[in-house]
Amino acid sequence: MEIQRVGVVGAGTMGNGIAHVFARSGYNVVLCDVEQRFVDRALATITKNLDRELAKSKITDDDKAAALGRIQPVTDRGQLADCFFDIEAATEKSEIKTEIFRDLDRITRPEIILASNTSSISITKLAALTTRPERVIGMHFFNPVPVMKLVEVIRGLATSEETLSETRDLSLRLDKTPVEVNDAPGFVSNRVLMPLLNEAMYAVMEGLATPEAVDEVFKLGMAHPMGPLTLADFIGLDVCLDIMRVMQSGLGDPKYRPCPLLIKMVDAGWLGRKSGRGFYKY
Ligand SMILES: NC(=O)c1ccc[n+]([C@@H]2O[C@H](COP(=O)([O-])OP(=O)(O)OC[C@H]3O[C@@H](n4cnc5c(N)ncnc54)[C@H](O)[C@@H]3O)[C@@H](O)[C@H]2O)c1
Repeated sequence: MEIQRVGVVGAGTMGNGIAHVFARSGYNVVLCDVEQRFVDRALATITKNLDRELAKSKITDDDKAAALGRIQPVTDRGQLADCFFDIEAATEKSEIKTEIFRDLDRITRPEIILASNTSSISITKLAALTTRPERVIGMHFFNPVPVMKLVEVIRGLATSEETLSETRDLSLRLDKTPVEVNDAPGFVSNRVLMPLLNEAMYAVMEGLATPEAVDEVFKLGMAHPMGPLTLADFIGLDVCLDIMRVMQSGLGDPKYRPCPLLIKMVDAGWLGRKSGRGFYKY
């Protein structure tokens, strides 16, 4: 089936990036969030990021105008009803995703693929909320979406071979590289990455080193392009905490206990780059 019009639910950090790459690849995008100011902010971000691509001569003025013209910002989820593919990129909370998946299942035709960009929540569980578990899949993009090549494609217990192959093809059409993994809390990317970030936070909390020193160790000693605390700020500390909690409850091993400093910073509203303060000030 030819996919032309896609729906993106959630217009935050990831949702605006996902809308950006779909629109840049020629798809019409319905971008939905709960309030007008969130979709307005997303469009401003997409415009800024397209300008960056223009400045680097990756796209032309016409490409930019065409991509922006393909994005329809909405607050009424009903507008997603006639999309050929819907991807959810809303806040990493089970109750929010539960409501969205039940609703998308109700408003869209049964053959439509419902994908989630979740970082850690079970695709099998999201699928079980719907009447089409074989058409539910994880499509995990990385931040910043227009730049990062990887899409972790997560197969839930009931995900069909066709759904997997259509999602793989779609990733390739977005000029991304799909890597297939099975469904378990955190998948592969966050199962391995988040304990590293969490441990770096313990190092700061225990006075072992400053955030700058921890980051320098990883940049200069391990050739990481950015240190773990800079990366945590970039991802969003609330997102990191949510993922650690999903892995802690889903895997039951105390090694996934979120660092108390992380909990305290999120309580203080220090969410990293997006709030202006995290391990660093922005
Ligand atoms: N930030 C990252 O680096 C990253 C990377 C990969 C995956 N993810 C995942 O992507 C998803 C989104 O994360 P984010 O970083 O973009 O978060 P974010 O906080 O930047 O954006 C979430 C958006 O979802 C919206 N939202 C909340 N409830 C909604 C609803 N019922 N309907 C529509 N929109 C709703 C919020 O208003 C907000 O604009 C999460 O599942 C997260 O785990 C994040």
